[in-house]
Amino acid sequence: MSRDDIINDPEYGNKAEAFEAFDDIPTNPHLDNTIGAVISRRYGRRDMLRSMLGVSAATALFGTSAMVAPKQAAAMGAESRYKFDELAWGNDTEHHIADGYNADILVRWGDPITADAPEFDVMNQTAEAQAQQFGYNNDYVGFAEVEPGRGMLCVNHEYTNEEVMFPGLGRQDRAGFEGMTKELVDIEMAAHGGSVFEIVKGDDGKWSVNRDNPANRRITANTEMTIDGPAAGHDRMKTSYDDTGTKVLGTINNCAGGMTPWGTYLMAEENFHGYFWTDTVDADGDPDVSAQPEAASMERYGVPGRWYAWGQYHDRFNIDKEPNEVNRFGWIVEVDPMNPDAAPIKHTALGRFRHEGAETTVASDGKLVIYSGDDNRFDYQYKWVSAEAVTEENSVFGSNLLSDGTLYVARFNEDGTIDWLALTHGEGPLTAENGFGSQADVMIDTRLAADLLGATPMDRPEDAQPRGDGTAYIMLTNNTRRSADQVDAANPRPESSFGHIIEIKEEGGNHSATTGTWDILVKCGDPTIAEVGAEWNPETSESGWFGSPDNCAIDADGRLWISTDQGSNWGKTGKSDGLYALETEGELRGHSKLFFRCPVGGELCGPYFADNSQTLFLAVQHPGTDGTKDFVGFERDSTFEDPATRWPDFDPAMPPRPSVVVVTKEDGGVIAV
Ligand code: FEO
Ligand code: CA
Repeated sequence: MSRDDIINDPEYGNKAEAFEAFDDIPTNPHLDNTIGAVISRRYGRRDMLRSMLGVSAATALFGTSAMVAPKQAAAMGAESRYKFDELAWGNDTEHHIADGYNADILVRWGDPITADAPEFDVMNQTAEAQAQQFGYNNDYVGFAEVEPGRGMLCVNHEYTNEEVMFPGLGRQDRAGFEGMTKELVDIEMAAHGGSVFEIVKGDDGKWSVNRDNPANRRITANTEMTIDGPAAGHDRMKTSYDDTGTKVLGTINNCAGGMTPWGTYLMAEENFHGYFWTDTVDADGDPDVSAQPEAASMERYGVPGRWYAWGQYHDRFNIDKEPNEVNRFGWIVEVDPMNPDAAPIKHTALGRFRHEGAETTVASDGKLVIYSGDDNRFDYQYKWVSAEAVTEENSVFGSNLLSDGTLYVARFNEDGTIDWLALTHGEGPLTAENGFGSQADVMIDTRLAADLLGATPMDRPEDAQPRGDGTAYIMLTNNTRRSADQVDAANPRPESSFGHIIEIKEEGGNHSATTGTWDILVKCGDPTIAEVGAEWNPETSESGWFGSPDNCAIDADGRLWISTDQGSNWGKTGKSDGLYALETEGELRGHSKLFFRCPVGGELCGPYFADNSQTLFLAVQHPGTDGTKDFVGFERDSTFEDPATRWPDFDPAMPPRPSVVVVTKEDGGVIAV
């Protein structure tokens, strides 16, 4: 299928869905270690037989009957560690939280976050105003506490949906972007990046934004940043406006992220390829990079995606004019939330790929460890280990700690062990003969290097969350492109629509170990449909199971929470995306309970526990957009003028707005105890 076929396919109701579908075509050509793989002795045969029947039966059987009343949760033999009454599943225009909890809107797209910011005027948007207002599509949420009840909220703004953001515009990918004026492109660029601003908890226990803190700031696609680590200053990082290869404007497609132990904010650059343009296309209208000097690298990264018109007005996003600019995106960016004058830093030591997140932990040997998945079908799970141990001296923004270390990629062996393979120049195949002249090349072409090491191609690694005891949880969201002869022990289902979660136990409980063991915690989807091949704790209720795990968090008690992003496929479960409490220990291991659910068409991001787990931040991204043709009673694509929901304002003059929700217990106290 060509790009144009996908754009014009009525199945994809908005640009983001089409972008995702186009990305369904894997860019990893090195799939030898899965092709013909022996069916796993640990998990495979039973699932293979079931999955051969295909998951489409699930849709046919289940439909999208969102109005069906849930069953009562089964009486449980063992007691859940999560003390709340499960929310009933469903799908409607509002958000819902379990009884006894508040889920209040904290901040919405367009809300002013600096003292000088103008009030939001949706019909008269400008780039200047947007650069001082909360950006679009909130994804990662972090919090840097200054003192109890006060701190800096750090929020990523992943992408923009022009068809519900601007009046009278519609789907611009279908229109050749002809409606995308420079003014609109510049608003989009200002709506990307991140927001950092103070929030305070009042005497009534409610959090609110303090616009007046002078440290509040927006980070956008135009914010000046520096580049450090092995790739800084390399010729491949130089452009016509930066002959040093150490300075770059902006960060884009910031998906999930992390907070460092010293309270700085890490933003992960994910689908950066979509923002780059070319006028060089093949007979199908697809980008043709064959004449580019770095064609192999561009092809492996899917560059250029041409999903935004930015390259028509800003040469740096046009690879015909500025081919090295793509090498300056796809990194982890560190931001000092306390100092608005500190330029963010792109840390090239952590590798370049479609970083989903960057969750940190301090290993038992004192090293800083950061887990990060590469969110693409058949791409890899990574972790990074600092060279030095964390000390008081290096626990500061801009220290050397994030500049020097080893990036590893995961090989999940069939016997349940894991090997972390070092991406170090000069070791194994990572030599000049294979195109890697230095560590800079290894980091810029992380994917190509990992291919040579024989890493395990995964079912779209999303967020990964380490816990202090040497355990890590890996969210694998789905991979409908995996064929029956490509399954392996760690990715056991062909055509996986619902994903699974892997638990890693690092050797000796040490996150910096290069070996460990792994196990599948749950296989997602409806457990009552045999063909789906889902596996949950049998006590899981009809409301409790989910599809497409995406982001995750560990609370102060070490308990795991999962948020979902089914995209346009939520019709396969009939459920809105939500937040689930997933047991990892004891008799109830693999038991899941629904705590919060999104309005229709929204994806749930965050989640982030703060305030000793008395506060939980959730980010509802692109409400009212995904899969709205399956929304009973609406059954069409959303537009600015005619959206499936106007959450959270429900004002006829306002489209749906991505917003951060703050969850607290009605009578205060720690969540779910
Ligand atoms: Fe931006 Fe992988 O979700
Ligand atoms: Ca995500």
